[in-house]
Amino acid sequence: MIKDTHVPAEEMQRQYAYAQMLQKQGLGLKYCIVTLGCQMNVRDSETMSGWLSGMGFTQTAAREDADIILYNTCCVRENAENKALGNVIWLKELKKLKPSLVIGICGCMVQQAGVGEELKQRYPFIDLAFGTHNAYRLPEYIYRILVERQRVFEVWNTDGEIPEGMPAKRQSGINAFVNIMYGCNNFCTYCIVPYVRGRERSRAQEDVLDECKELVMGGTKEIMLLGQNVNSYMGGGSAFAELLEQVSRLGIQRLRFMTSHPKDISDELIHCFGRILNLMPQLHLPVQSGSNEVLKRMNRHYTREKYLETVQKLREVCPDIGLTTDIIVGFPGETLSQFEETLSLVEQAQYDAAYTFIYSPRQGTPAASYEDGVTMEEKTRRIEQLIALQQSITSKKLAAQLGKAEKVLIESASTRDEGFVGGKTPRGFMVNLPGGAELIGKTVDVRITGQGKNTLKGEMVNK
Ligand code: SAH
Ligand code: SF4
Ligand code: F3S
Repeated sequence: MIKDTHVPAEEMQRQYAYAQMLQKQGLGLKYCIVTLGCQMNVRDSETMSGWLSGMGFTQTAAREDADIILYNTCCVRENAENKALGNVIWLKELKKLKPSLVIGICGCMVQQAGVGEELKQRYPFIDLAFGTHNAYRLPEYIYRILVERQRVFEVWNTDGEIPEGMPAKRQSGINAFVNIMYGCNNFCTYCIVPYVRGRERSRAQEDVLDECKELVMGGTKEIMLLGQNVNSYMGGGSAFAELLEQVSRLGIQRLRFMTSHPKDISDELIHCFGRILNLMPQLHLPVQSGSNEVLKRMNRHYTREKYLETVQKLREVCPDIGLTTDIIVGFPGETLSQFEETLSLVEQAQYDAAYTFIYSPRQGTPAASYEDGVTMEEKTRRIEQLIALQQSITSKKLAAQLGKAEKVLIESASTRDEGFVGGKTPRGFMVNLPGGAELIGKTVDVRITGQGKNTLKGEMVNK
């Protein structure tokens, strides 16, 4: 039985009332949100930005200019946490120069057991900390800090209810993230996400469709549907394929989704790639390891053979599909031959790109107590070998695009080369081409003329 409850409408109204009270005070403050971690956090930051703009505050990218600084943190690997903490500690100096500065920290790192309390005790210059489940209460918290002069530290242990009807200030008007579900039930043994994002809960189909409709009407060109495991939307079965079909009919130019767990990917979903024209031929399908023994100890519920069969089916349905993946190197006890199985899987799967990570023990996860005889030196050697292999495959994949005619959705002006813009092909390759800012948001015909390390070069063709 799926029990997806919403934050009550009255509670949401209360939050809007706080935002309005602050807006009426005409404080005119500036805020800066620093976002670490994955797309979930990016999307959450857009909501926080929506709330803060509704208070009449303006966004700044420079922390030095801000009156309110919020760190939206990640804890998926140790280095993500170190980065957040290092940054926040640096803010102490900023606060010495501007004592009225409000420093807040939120997101996955704060949601871990005991972290909120620890931040409160150890860092008196932090004014605000909240977890992932109560983030929708930001207006109330800001009110309590600015008007009632309190420090606010609130982290809920209960799984979040689904908040609907929140504002959003999106990063881009061209491509947008849309959450379809929150949380994860998979408990891969290395992963902290289920502990900090709670159990799976799905947004109602009509709420997802309403958000997508609004985006399409507002001129958004590309939608990325987001979930930790989109295949289990509404408990699994065909619900996700159905949702995809519905969203595709709203008239969005390009549709993508992530992430898909290989254990749950259905034939029905695979066939969507052959059938739904605006579903882009791209899939992120994290494999994590090429060794069945390691996959078992990771609690992944598929084998290498099953995974490769899925890859083959996808290529049969959609020969030009671009596959990307995530791989963990040096899972506790990973032997050399098990690592070599990962190398051979990468050879076989022929990914466009792979995101590779050295295993990082996360407190409270089962794998953190697994025995690990492999040295960091050896793990580093392994990841370098894997990166080199993937780089050679990526390079080959890019070379195969040379001379092709592609439709590129221009997303931004290049920050490196003046007079250049960048955008993606349907398959997800990034292309840089000569052009001006007037092209941003347009889909142009491009001939691929060259390749960089991970990107393509092109030229517009007149049709
Ligand atoms: N829900 C998504 C992504 C989760 S986190 C999925 O299931 O694919 C993104 C990636 O971080 C994971 O795919 C995994 O490769 C990596 N990761 C997660 N926990 C990790 C850990 N403890 N150490 C190293 N990498 C990790
Ligand atoms: Fe983590 Fe596994 Fe859930 Fe992905 S599916 S978020 S890797 S527990
Ligand atoms: Fe994402 Fe990091 Fe949280 S990967 S879900 S921001 S722990």
